[in-house]
Amino acid sequence: MPKPIRVVGSLNMDLVVQVPHQPISGETVLGSDYATYPGGKGANQAVAAARAGAEVQMWGAVGSDAFGAILKENLEQNGIDTRQLTELPGPSGIALITVDPSGQNRIVVSPGANGRYTPEGLPLFTPAALLLLQLEIPMPTVLAVAEQAFAQGIPILLNPAPIQPLPGSLLPQIRYLVLNETEATSLTQSPIETPEQAQTVAQRLQKQGIPTVILTLGGAGLVWVDGEERGYLPAHSVKVVDTTAAGDGFCGALAACLAAGGSLKEALRFANAAAALAVTRAGAQPSLAYRAEIEAFGAGQRDPSV
Ligand code: RIB
Repeated sequence: MPKPIRVVGSLNMDLVVQVPHQPISGETVLGSDYATYPGGKGANQAVAAARAGAEVQMWGAVGSDAFGAILKENLEQNGIDTRQLTELPGPSGIALITVDPSGQNRIVVSPGANGRYTPEGLPLFTPAALLLLQLEIPMPTVLAVAEQAFAQGIPILLNPAPIQPLPGSLLPQIRYLVLNETEATSLTQSPIETPEQAQTVAQRLQKQGIPTVILTLGGAGLVWVDGEERGYLPAHSVKVVDTTAAGDGFCGALAACLAAGGSLKEALRFANAAAALAVTRAGAQPSLAYRAEIEAFGAGQRDPSV
């Protein structure tokens, strides 16, 4: 029996408005009609991994409101095992998202049930091929899950978003750290303006005991360090519609490829193509790509170096 990827994290209903520009403090901006899309970094990564071909389990919490049932059902429609998803009294997580004409977003999350998903609510830990974690659930829950996975030898992929200080005990348990330049700057206090600077920051993070660090740079591509190896991968050139969940699409596809036995370089190319497809479409989960289209897109592109 192949072992599943386990995602322990958030589920949100995203309320999305297109705006002509992002409002500054005190400004009111008239936008489009709002749209609702299933989102949340945890659920997005679970859906991305499932569409990329992995068997996926999702652990987390939805609220007792109407959004909770929709979020759960949406995961099931994507073939994800939701038997360990908990329903907690009160509202589900939501995200208020504005997207400007260049596809860039601003996101405010109200955690709802995600914020009430405490370590006491965790199921018994069983084997998994890979554990995917983000930081939209309480840190004590993240730490409890990471500790159990580490003790069982399950590789952990941490996407530290939204960024916050990371306890020193967590980093040495992480096998793959995937973060963007804003998150990396926040963790290291080092500005990142070029891939060369990003490479230096990735190496600094690696020295904290993480074998593989992948630092994504949006349209400028990504840099990675893995043991003694390092490299750069340019982003694919695509028409950007909405960058929401592109990072989640990357993490989910990367995890799916690694769990299927792919090499890191194969997984990076696959995830890079998945992220490129995600930015060409609106919304969080509706934008996430399926394995066949990721492979077809990747095959049609010039093979970038890693
Ligand atoms: O990463 C994108 C996600 O961030 C959105 O779906 C939103 O719910 C927030 O969690």
